[in-house]
Amino acid sequence: MTLPKLQIGAKAARYCIVQGGMSIRIALHALVAAVANAGGIGTIGGMGISPAELRDEIRKTRKLTDGVFGVNLMYAGYLFDRLLEVCIEETVDFVAIGAGFARGPFQKLAAHGISALAIISSPKAARIVARTEGVTGVVVESGQAGGHLGPEDPNISTWDLFPPVLQTLREYNYGGPVIAAGGILHREDIDRALAMGADGVQMGIRFAMTEESAASPAMKQAWLTATGSQVEDWSPTGMASRAIVPHSPDLLPRVDDIKVHCVHCLKVCRHREDHSVSHCIHTALTNAQKGDVVNGLVFCGPRVGEIHDILPAGEIIRRLVGSPIQARGWDPAMV
Ligand SMILES: Cc1cc2nc3c(=O)[nH]c(=O)nc-3n(C[C@H](O)[C@H](O)[C@H](O)COP(=O)(O)O)c2cc1C
Repeated sequence: MTLPKLQIGAKAARYCIVQGGMSIRIALHALVAAVANAGGIGTIGGMGISPAELRDEIRKTRKLTDGVFGVNLMYAGYLFDRLLEVCIEETVDFVAIGAGFARGPFQKLAAHGISALAIISSPKAARIVARTEGVTGVVVESGQAGGHLGPEDPNISTWDLFPPVLQTLREYNYGGPVIAAGGILHREDIDRALAMGADGVQMGIRFAMTEESAASPAMKQAWLTATGSQVEDWSPTGMASRAIVPHSPDLLPRVDDIKVHCVHCLKVCRHREDHSVSHCIHTALTNAQKGDVVNGLVFCGPRVGEIHDILPAGEIIRRLVGSPIQARGWDPAMV
């Protein structure tokens, strides 16, 4: 069975597969364009980069594809407002906003005719976004996702979280597309999400582990050898997060290290308030992206151990859109 299209505002992608935004500098123009060219929807990770770098990434992506792509921004980010301005000035197809919520940015994007996705993790948030002007679509992200986690129960699966959130959205007459995220790797996962009523899926780690992803070879190797991930409570954001095992917070960089400077990446940072607490998340994620995984933070969900290869993003999409039988060939036997 062919996968359905996914409509985000005025734009429709050939397939209902969204590549989730991944900061810092994991999902940049090469990956985003490769996904969009293959018929999926690409998302630039807009957190932890400057407004000028974001503008450059948007323009580079646009040169490489006429497919659908947008930008992921974290509301908790210090530069959120300025990055949002860049998205508006560059008229991206959509902005996906997570890690905090306010109605203003959605209204602002709507006023400029730009679609917006709200990334949420609870029925409570569903009640709010359903009544917010400018929410073109909703991403429901479970505890099986990599990175920072929104659900009250950070271990809740997509299969347990998605149905009540969807039901709440529909009770509040929300009519936009609703996308499932967290732990979706194979074609059978996509089929299961669609059977639950999802209009599409958002996938992170499968696209982080591609040739076009801007993660360092060492980071890709760390994912390839990882058997799973664990929920941590030591992020300076105060949110739970998921990273590969083993990771020790003691090895993560701090601003009292002479080489680490605070770039004010977050509006509220526990580490900036008190250097003895937590670590510098910007440096930790940058270290991993550049190859120092020991002193870096390698985000991923619990199913990372099921991925055994680094493939071109287009090949991943081609395999996912094949029949369910072909998709089972994700197993090493076929790859
Ligand atoms: C390395 C990594 C970085 C991520 N960074 C972000 C981010 O900056 N903003 C965000 O909203 N989600 C982020 N995510 C979550 C993804 O966008 C996506 O929703 C999630 O990974 C889906 O789960 P999956 O990885 O199991 O497919 C990140 C995920 C990973 C693995």
